[in-house]
Parts: sequence; C-alpha cells; structure tokens
Amino acid sequence: NSKGTITVEDVTYPADRWTNATSTILSHIPRRIYLEKNHPLDMTRRLIESQFPAPTYGNYTEKSPVVTTAQNFDVLGFPSDHPGRSRTDTYYINEKTVLRTHTSAHQADYFRRMNGENSKEDGYTVVADVYRRDAIDRSHYPVFHQMEGARLWKRPAGMTASESAARILEDVQKLPTHDVEVEDPNPVTHPERNPLQERYHSQEEVNAIAAHLKRNLELLVIRIFTEASKASKKAELKQEPLKIRWVEAYFPFTSPSWELEVFWQGDWLEVLGCGIIKQELLNNSGVPDRIGWAFGIGLERIAMLLFEIPDIRLFWSQDSRFLSQFSQGEIIRFQPFSKHPECYKDVAFWLNSATASGTGAGAAGGAVPFHDNDMMEVVRECAKDMVEDVQLTDQFVHPKTGRKSLCYRINYRSLEHTLTNKEVNVMHEQVRQTLVQRFGVEIR
Ligand code: PHE
Repeated sequence: NSKGTITVEDVTYPADRWTNATSTILSHIPRRIYLEKNHPLDMTRRLIESQFPAPTYGNYTEKSPVVTTAQNFDVLGFPSDHPGRSRTDTYYINEKTVLRTHTSAHQADYFRRMNGENSKEDGYTVVADVYRRDAIDRSHYPVFHQMEGARLWKRPAGMTASESAARILEDVQKLPTHDVEVEDPNPVTHPERNPLQERYHSQEEVNAIAAHLKRNLELLVIRIFTEASKASKKAELKQEPLKIRWVEAYFPFTSPSWELEVFWQGDWLEVLGCGIIKQELLNNSGVPDRIGWAFGIGLERIAMLLFEIPDIRLFWSQDSRFLSQFSQGEIIRFQPFSKHPECYKDVAFWLNSATASGTGAGAAGGAVPFHDNDMMEVVRECAKDMVEDVQLTDQFVHPKTGRKSLCYRINYRSLEHTLTNKEVNVMHEQVRQTLVQRFGVEIR
C-alpha cells in the first residue's frame, strides 16, 4: 500500500486520490470462507445452489473481488450521482477499479458467456465476497457474501410476444407449487420508478417472467426457512407458521423490481432483491434476443438465521469452538460460547473547519466532510475484530466558535478472549492518534 501503488493478491495497481481500500480490508480477500468445507457460509451457499440445479443453471463462484468501476456501476445503469458510488460507501483501488459492492458486477459477463457456442445453460448462480463501507455492529461487516442468480429465455426473431409469454408460462407450470401464505403476491409497482419497459416487452411476457421469478424465489425461501425451523425445533424453540410477502423495490438494472420479505420470530425481514432484467443491459451484453429475471441474496443474513449465529464477526473466527460445531455439515442451532466482558470507551473530538464542512471538496481528494464510515474505518484498522459496535452518542456545534464536536462510544469485546485493560487502552489510544493524524481533529 505504499508509494503510489496498491497491491491486491500480487497484482499492483496505481493508487490515486480515490484509493481508500485499507490493508485490513484487503487481508480478507485470500480467506475465501464461502469455500471452506462445512463453514456455515459454504453450507448456506450449497443449500441455495441446490434450488438452481443443472442443466438449466450453472453454479459458479468469482474469486477476485477486484472489478472495474464500469462493471460495478456504469454498465448496470447506476446514475452518476448514485450514493453507492461515493468513497464513503465503496472501497476504491483507484478511480477506475473497486472492490465489488455486489455480485451484480458480473451480470453482463455472465450474459455474454451464455451466448457462447458451448453454453447450454439458460441461467446461473454466482457466489462471491463483496465489500462495503458501513457501520460496526453485530450484523454489519465490511466484507460479506452474496449470491446472484439469473434465468434468461431466448425470443427468436419472428416469435410474437404472446408465443414467447406462453413458452415461459410452460416453464412456470413445470415448477413445484407450495402452500405457504403469500401476503402480498402482486404489490403495485410505480411506473415512475419501475417502468414496464414497453419498448421491449409486452405485459404478458413480464407477467410470465415475474410468475417464474416469484415462484422460484418463494420456493427458495420456503426451503431455507423449513431448514431453519427444523434446526430450532431440535433446539425446542417455539414455532410459528411461515408467512412471506412481496414489496416493490428499486434497482438500476431491473424493472420492475421487488424484495421478498419473510415473517420470522416476530419481524418482517427483507431476504432478497430481484426483478425483470433491463433490456438495455441484455442488449449491451450480446444477448438482445433474450429476456429474463435476476435476483441477489446476502448469505450472512441467511446463515445467521439458519444457524442462529448472533454476531457477524463469528464467520471470520478461526476458533475451534465456532468451527467444530459445523463439522458434520448439518444445519444445527449454534451454541454460543461464553460471552467475554464488554468494555465501553468514548472518544470525543472537535473537527477542524475543513473536515466539519468539507470546504473546497470534490468527490475525491481535498477536504471532505468527516463521515461516520471514516470513524468505522479507523476503528477497524486499529482494533480489527475486537470491536462489537460503534455508536455516535453525541454531536453539537459550539454556539460561539461554531466548531463541531462528535462523540463516539466504542464497545471493545473480543469473541475469543477476555480483553485486558491494557489491550483496550492500547487500541483506544491508537484510534485517538489515528483520528488526529488523518483528520486533524482535536481530542477533547
Ligand atoms: N445487487 C443487488 C444488491 O446488492 C441485488 C439484486 C441482484 C437486485 C439482482 C436485483 C437483481 O442489493
């Protein structure tokens, strides 16, 4: 990470003022925990893949998280001012290169590949590690895993829209049915945000693709949650009948778009995003004669439910008290090992005038406003996985001087051992110093 270059798994890239990927983050790339035998993520991956079998679907993984900014955003139609593009949300290797923020970065490449002469598949799943700058708490980690899936149908020249719709409906008929209650099977979608792509598709075709998409994903979620309730039944937890519902969503590369939610232990949980693939994307990816659907699902979220894993950091643990529980490759309820004591420390500081307001800043470089995620990054670097959560507990502007003050509360707690006062003090001092050096704050 030195002298104007940044190296990721033996490939060296020029650094520039966009570069913000830290060595702490990059150190996660070689672990590939989603491929580790009997790791809960590996088991979750296999469970979902089994719902999308050969010969229709190929099941893939993408080992390198380094993609171009174009693959991650431009090709998918992300507007230039989309917040996902900002350096506070995304890890940049440099202006043209990022750590992918979602598996959708590979959509266009997979579509192109499906058009190849040897390709017999009409769909795929792909699993990969994805990277996002985010809060620190028990359900957020800057590296997590997604699976993306898609299914396309060829619509040869000369075939009418109703013939094409009828053919897709035949495939819907072949799918198994289920008897789980779907609360809102067809939510209204708003044409301003989710236009029907009338230039390319008829309503009939969209209905047929949507029916295929929804049935498949309902079956997927039912499968997952049936496994989860089996595991908690063994652990003698109380059961409730499964309920699911569809809600309208928005993604730049699908229209219409939906999310599927599940009622689980008293709450509606969002489990996946999906939609009808935008035809411009298919046209630009060498398959203008195909139409279809895509979905994306986060694996940690599902694994945490399936195994009742209470803290996302556990997925990265090498502690045998964690790993040995999954050695049989069975979906079981995780038995938490004793929680080590927590240790709260506050850090309060004044921002200087540049970081308080972001004067003179462009999208990158120069002074930009201090962002919550800047705090998170400093804590990740200084304390690695020794922090359970970080919260902004106070902020105010001094009435006379106009200076802005922030106070964060850091909860130091290791999953693996009891932290000594000395260890915590060393990490906390490092957080304070890094804040001063990097952001010119004045500690209070
Ligand atoms: N990539 C989207 C996300 O990360 C999920 C998605 C995938 C939505 C495919 C629609 C189709 O939120």
